[in-house]
Amino acid sequence: MRLFHVIRAQQFDRELLGRIFSEAREMEELARKGGSNILAGKVMATVFYEPSTRTRLSFESAMMRLGGRVISTENAREFSSAAKGETLEDTIRIVDGYADVIVLRHYESGAAERAARVSNVPIINAGDGPGQHPTQALLDLYTIEKELGHIDGISVAMVGDLANGRTVRSLCYLLAKYKDVKIYFVAPDVVRMKEDIKEYLTRHRVPFYEEEDLKEVASKVDVIYQTRIQKERFGDRIEDYERARGVYIVDRELLDVMQPHAIVMHPLPRVDEISPEVDEDPRAAYFRQAQNGLYIRMALLKMVLT
Ligand code: CP
Repeated sequence: MRLFHVIRAQQFDRELLGRIFSEAREMEELARKGGSNILAGKVMATVFYEPSTRTRLSFESAMMRLGGRVISTENAREFSSAAKGETLEDTIRIVDGYADVIVLRHYESGAAERAARVSNVPIINAGDGPGQHPTQALLDLYTIEKELGHIDGISVAMVGDLANGRTVRSLCYLLAKYKDVKIYFVAPDVVRMKEDIKEYLTRHRVPFYEEEDLKEVASKVDVIYQTRIQKERFGDRIEDYERARGVYIVDRELLDVMQPHAIVMHPLPRVDEISPEVDEDPRAAYFRQAQNGLYIRMALLKMVLT
């Protein structure tokens, strides 16, 4: 069956994940050879109500490398007719007449689902507030498989702002599809992982542990998935933000206790939660991870448009 909307990580099964990763491997090859024209004549709209570097630019680069064209509103809150009071639904009804696929980033959880309900063309969720970021989770899983050679049997530490981090939420849903995966949540008290994800993991028999000692956890996991404390989601709760920031930092000392094969990932952007000295270590996988976003998004665009 053709892939259409990409809204939630739960919509993927292992067979489909395998197909996406296989396409992404082909896209790596294609990108190295200078791209192709398989999406010539197709138009992608990127409609972003929140800031982005990686997601928007990698989608746009992906479309161009496959011969398609791009229309974009990168600050839709101010520069689209949302500023005049237009609803998201009306905007989508209009843009779907101009584009063959819409990549949407929005500040409200559930926005991509609302858009999909009124759109005649595929909607790709590029992050909906604190909800989900399914294409990030796909590139995260692709990175894990590429770096470690397998996903079954891995132990992952998710660190930092787990309450507001949409990438960790989507990644939990995807990891639950693999065998013998263990998850360690290491978060300051004010930003612990939410109950809905913990209930989902329990229902799907994925063991998870809430821990405080990052050093102890780092010594036994295959992946440290660090995340930024998302200041923009705290509103006027400045004290909570101050209590959460700087508590868990990946630095040289932490690298020293990690296993030689283990990797450090981060969806980026980072602020100060990974020290720059870590960048030089071969286990720092976060820049390779961001590069993989291009190949996963090329694969997704090919799959929804052909
Ligand atoms: N990881 C991620 O979504 O980055 P951007 O916010 O820069 O798109």
